[in-house]
Amino acid sequence: MILLLGATGYIGEAFVFELKRRNKNFMPLSRKQVDYSRFDLLLEFLRAQKPEFVINAAGYTGKPNVDACELDKAGTLVGNTLLPQTIAHACLAARIPWGHVSSGCIFSGAKISRNGQIRVEKDMIRPELHALAEAKSAAVLGFAETDTPNFTFRDGPCSFYSGTKALGEEAMSGIGQSYIWRLRIPFDEFDNKRNYLSKVQRYPKVYENVNSISHRADFVKACLDTWELRAPFGIYNVTNPGYVTTRHVVEQIEKILKPARKFEFWANDGEFYQLAAKTPRSNCVMDSSKLLAAGVKIRGVEEALEDSLAHWKPE
Ligand SMILES: NC(=O)c1ccc[n+]([C@@H]2O[C@H](COP(=O)([O-])OP(=O)(O)OC[C@H]3O[C@@H](n4cnc5c(N)ncnc54)[C@H](OP(=O)(O)O)[C@@H]3O)[C@@H](O)[C@H]2O)c1
Repeated sequence: MILLLGATGYIGEAFVFELKRRNKNFMPLSRKQVDYSRFDLLLEFLRAQKPEFVINAAGYTGKPNVDACELDKAGTLVGNTLLPQTIAHACLAARIPWGHVSSGCIFSGAKISRNGQIRVEKDMIRPELHALAEAKSAAVLGFAETDTPNFTFRDGPCSFYSGTKALGEEAMSGIGQSYIWRLRIPFDEFDNKRNYLSKVQRYPKVYENVNSISHRADFVKACLDTWELRAPFGIYNVTNPGYVTTRHVVEQIEKILKPARKFEFWANDGEFYQLAAKTPRSNCVMDSSKLLAAGVKIRGVEEALEDSLAHWKPE
């Protein structure tokens, strides 16, 4: 049996759907049934139920966005840092391997390869770097699992949410056997206020940047595959290979969905942070080649984006 924590959430419900589709024996668990954030209760539950694998899809995401985490720092720390550490210790004590949904939002920018040298650029919106991304230049490389997160409390500025997600990875590392699956900006064909494609369509103005993104169903399939393939434990960037600019996403929305509205963009970061956002946003390019090398199949970002828009299901 697979135990699924956080099954009631946006990502948790995608795990539920995929586990059912695969005819897996699984048990969704909500804090309403058992407060799995408490070590003693979780360990007792694990010892009684003996799952073969635990999935942690629980965490604290600010609603409607990460700015809300700045107003509930204690809750954010509990959900994103203390919770994975508690699960790690309980799973170690019960000798159960597990997987944790982390986030790519602990990185900012991309790696740029030039003249045989690779350097980290935190701000891909700078014109010369943005042009490289728009041209899909081979010089733009994603962050790999071996790279140190650079949008964290240690390497700021960062949002409080991102800081706690990075600390969460640190807090569970070296404790038992686990996967860390990094999700980044979930999207799919189901119109939903949590869906990136819905958000882009509803923002009064759009924020231009460069990002790797994760199709929600592709993400959970890939996570489950790492376990089913018995890929080595460790960190995996689980994004659809490649990256997109927001401008390109808008162009695809205009081409495929043909909305009545015209899209406007914030003039620059200054305007965006003055009028639309409070805490810094992570925008980053991720390298998913470790996932592919482990034998996990996942569509490229362009295919996943087009497919989602072609099968768009308005709310
Ligand atoms: N959505 C995104 O854009 C995104 C992007 C990257 C990474 N992630 C990560 O993916 C994970 C799941 O995100 P989600 O979007 O599915 O979140 P969500 O819809 O808010 O659901 C999270 C679930 O976590 C459980 N939970 C356990 N402890 C919690 C706490 N202290 N505070 C709040 N909820 C808690 C709740 O379930 P019960 O109370 O029923 O147990 C809740 O339904 C999180 O770790 C998040 O950081 C999300």
